[in-house]
Amino acid sequence: MSNLAENIAETDSRSREEFLADVLAGLSTRPKTLPCKYFYDERGSILFEQICELEEYYITRTELALLSDIGAEVAELVGEGVTIIEPGSGAGVKVQILLDALLHPRKFIPLEISLDALEASTKELKQKFPQLRVIPHQGDFTDQKDLKKLPLLKEKSERRLVFFPGSTIGNFTRKEAVEVLNNLRILAGENGLVLVGVDLLKDRNRLLDAYDDHLGITADFNKNLLVRINRELDANFDFERGFDHRAVFNEQASRIEMHLVSASDQSVEIGDQKVEFDEGESIHTENSHKYSEQMVVQMVTEANLQVVRDWTDEGGDFALFLLEPLLA
Ligand code: AVI
Repeated sequence: MSNLAENIAETDSRSREEFLADVLAGLSTRPKTLPCKYFYDERGSILFEQICELEEYYITRTELALLSDIGAEVAELVGEGVTIIEPGSGAGVKVQILLDALLHPRKFIPLEISLDALEASTKELKQKFPQLRVIPHQGDFTDQKDLKKLPLLKEKSERRLVFFPGSTIGNFTRKEAVEVLNNLRILAGENGLVLVGVDLLKDRNRLLDAYDDHLGITADFNKNLLVRINRELDANFDFERGFDHRAVFNEQASRIEMHLVSASDQSVEIGDQKVEFDEGESIHTENSHKYSEQMVVQMVTEANLQVVRDWTDEGGDFALFLLEPLLA
């Protein structure tokens, strides 16, 4: 085996072990949970792209339109020759709107777990923005170790804009979200800025429809986690009939929760382990927090950031916050 093939094989077996440990740990807690970061295998990423096109899922189209509307204002506030960093950059669609608007952006540093998505988006961006240096990094932005590998913390003089769209911040608990914002502030540096997209609190029925669409794409996306566990961890979940997709609004925590609810008393094998489920017992698979503007201000302050400007679409559905570090 070549060195590269050995490295890839080693990384694969390490990530499989980590995946197995996370799954078994989540399924041994009460209530049972599974980490939402595992939604995004190849099929999960395709299903998520389909969710973004759904009538009920207003988030993506609203944010894209808002970004286009405010591009010139953001460009003026950010200034010329900026370096953009995007943790969890995916297909790199949203950043293109920003790159079109910004004044001579210098560098773009996408940070993404999926090597395929990273390679494809880097190629596309290099073609579309030939003056831009694109420096891709494979890694998990929730992992401090991966963030520390980014070379930019040494380059103190450059002006950086950390871009965190999509309301991904909502997928963390409030406490974790403050930690993520803290990390984004550190990535931006003393003279930098952070642009964050946040889905706003709204009518609960619209929220429930957005996470339980009539075509059942979100249900497939949720159940795909079980398909992935079966394939990668040698498990036997009956993902078609054994579990039902459920979206609930947890008012106290201000979030939509996604669950997979066991349709019967059943026992599932994962490798050499057995996990028991009662009928009606749920696996909590995702949180998607919905914030008011006031809640965001409070949260960013805890992360030592302050709002430079914020923008909301006309319908009041989604907001983008431009943040800067609070002076010590
Ligand atoms: C990626 N994230 C912001 C999406 C959300 O809305 O919380 C994931 C998603 N889950 C179900 N639909 C979309």
